[in-house]
Order: sequence, then structure tokens, then C-alpha cells
Amino acid sequence: MFSDRFNYARAELAQFAGPNNKIVVFNAQAVDQISEILDMDITVVQGFAPSVNMLKAAGINVVQDVSGKFDCAIVLLPKSKPQARDLIAQAVACVENGAIIVDGQKNDGIDSVLKELKKNVDLGVVISKAHGKCASFSSAHDLAHWRAKPIELSDGFQTYVGVFSADEADPASVLLAQHVKGHLKGRVADFGAGWGYLTRAILANENVTDVYAVEADYTSVQACQMNCVDDRLKFYWDDVTTWKSPKLLDFVVMNPPFHTLGAADPKLGVAFIKAAARNLAPSGQLIMVANRHLPYETTLQDTFQTVNELDGTNKFKVFMAARPRKIRR
Ligand SMILES: C[S@@+](CC[C@H](N)C(=O)[O-])C[C@H]1O[C@@H](n2cnc3c(N)ncnc32)[C@H](O)[C@@H]1O
Repeated sequence: MFSDRFNYARAELAQFAGPNNKIVVFNAQAVDQISEILDMDITVVQGFAPSVNMLKAAGINVVQDVSGKFDCAIVLLPKSKPQARDLIAQAVACVENGAIIVDGQKNDGIDSVLKELKKNVDLGVVISKAHGKCASFSSAHDLAHWRAKPIELSDGFQTYVGVFSADEADPASVLLAQHVKGHLKGRVADFGAGWGYLTRAILANENVTDVYAVEADYTSVQACQMNCVDDRLKFYWDDVTTWKSPKLLDFVVMNPPFHTLGAADPKLGVAFIKAAARNLAPSGQLIMVANRHLPYETTLQDTFQTVNELDGTNKFKVFMAARPRKIRR
């Protein structure tokens, strides 16, 4: 990770990112990634609520939209290449006369990003260490053409690079939406609402009185706000696993995430199911879709009195789970 490479190449990198520099770091998700520069003047740009909470708890200044000018920008590469280009372009735009450091793991595609960068900028020495690479270039280059534009989808939906399923509706959510339209009423939450594909399907039910769209990713929340405009709808930029509904819910709808910080993690889906059970009224129902290989049945049986598989394909399964077992909210 970046802290290993910074430590290894401190002499080269400290001329750009040192104690006298104002530094902005894009996409730090966890404190240990940047442990070597914590004593410097850093601002982290991060929009994923659980990461924001962790970084803030460590005393780090965290923002979602960067403003002002910095002496150095460090971009920790995300997995999505269009998002990587967008972050690098943002980094160049906020450094007046300094350096941009681009750092990433091999399995996040650092080699191909550095190869593409080389065609656009004079890249300094490339440091290879700890299954990744790190390189720097001067902010005098113009990379404005790497800034991403909103992505236009059918039905008037707009998304942005880096959000879940940015280029088309997720097929699992398309399957789930068929079980959402016409069936819901009362107070409904969309857990992990993303850019709002399911939120809109929930709102299509005229007997629904309130919809809470809960989503951890800041850019997704902004997209969801653009895609779903309705007086019944409230947005929560928050971590579902700790979120508390203002009032008990009649329905929870979800296509839960199964990755934490880029790594497969079915425990997150389990935490989403428990959060649904905690926030539902005694007669409430959870309607969810999951990849067929993910093992959610035991948790569903443990947290709900009735569990049925409503539908499925060879890839996905749709569950309806009703009447949460008594657990403390
Ligand atoms: C599988 S996607 C589904 C998105 C959307 N409902 C759809 O159908 O397109 C899961 C969503 O959960 C969000 N997410 C991940 N961890 C979360 C958490 N702890 N709390 C809230 N949302 C989270 C992700 O950002 C992503 O948008």
C-alpha cells in the first residue's frame, strides 16, 4: 500500500509531500494506507461513509468535494479506470505549482494507468514496492480531458464514473424490481440505494407514503437525488449497518453489496439483513436479491420468522423474509 512505498522512497517523495506542504489525498479508504504522512498537513477527499467515519475518528480532515489549492496531490488508485482518470484530473486541477503522486496496487491496474499517463505527462521515477507502484509528475500538465462527464442511461437516469453499475442497471436489481412494483405500501427503505434504480421502482407504488434511500457512497447519493425526485423521498448518506430509521419500516428493499474496500465480503450482506430486521416493524417484510452463490439463507432464517425464495435465475435469487424475530434496535 501507499504507506509502504512512501516509507521505502521517502527521500524521493518527501520533496513533494513533506511537513511544509499542504497535501490533498484522493481516495484514502483506511488510515493505514496513509499512516506515513499522518503528521503532515493533509486533507483527504473521500465519499464512502464508513471510510469517512474511520478517517475522521483518527483526527484526519476529510472532505467530499475538494476546494482551494494544494502543494501536492496524492491519488490512491481506485479499481475503476475511468474513475482513476477523473481523480487524476481533479488532482491536477487543485495543485497550482507542485506535484501529483499516483499510487496503486498492481491488481488495481496501476501499470496500465501509468502507461496511459506516460503518453500525457513527463512521468518521474517509478517506484515499485509491495505489489504496487508509485510515480509523480508536475501539475503544470493539462489533464482536463480526463475529467469524467455524467453518464446518460435510458429512462432519464444519470450516473457517474465509479458508482455501482454506472453503465447500465444491474441485472439483479432489474429482477428484484419486478417484485417491488405494485406490492409495496407504507414506509419503505432502499438499503444501498446506489443511483436510484430500485428507489424509482419503489416510488412507483402509489400506496407508499415514505421512502428512505440509504446509501454510503456520496456520489451515488447525488446521482440518486438527481434521478428520483418525489416529496415522499428522503436521502441518507450513511452506513446501513449502523443506520437507524426515524420510524419502524413496513418494507426494506435491497440488493446488498458484497465487497468491502474492493475485497469480496459476504459479511456485509449479513450485516444488511440484520439492519433490515432491526428497522422493520413486527409485521414488516424484507425483499432482497443476491447472487445465487452467496450464503444468506441461515442469516435470513435466524432473523425472520418466514423466509421464501420468490424468484430466481441460475445467477440470482430473490427472497421475501417477513416478521423479524425480536432483536434489540
Ligand atoms: C449492489 S449495489 C446496489 C445499488 C442499487 N440499489 C442498485 O440496485 O443499482 C450496493 C450499494 O450499496 C452501497 N453500500 C456499500 N456499503 C454500504 C454501507 N455500509 N451502507 C450503505 N450503503 C452501502 C454501495 O455503494 C452500492 O451502491
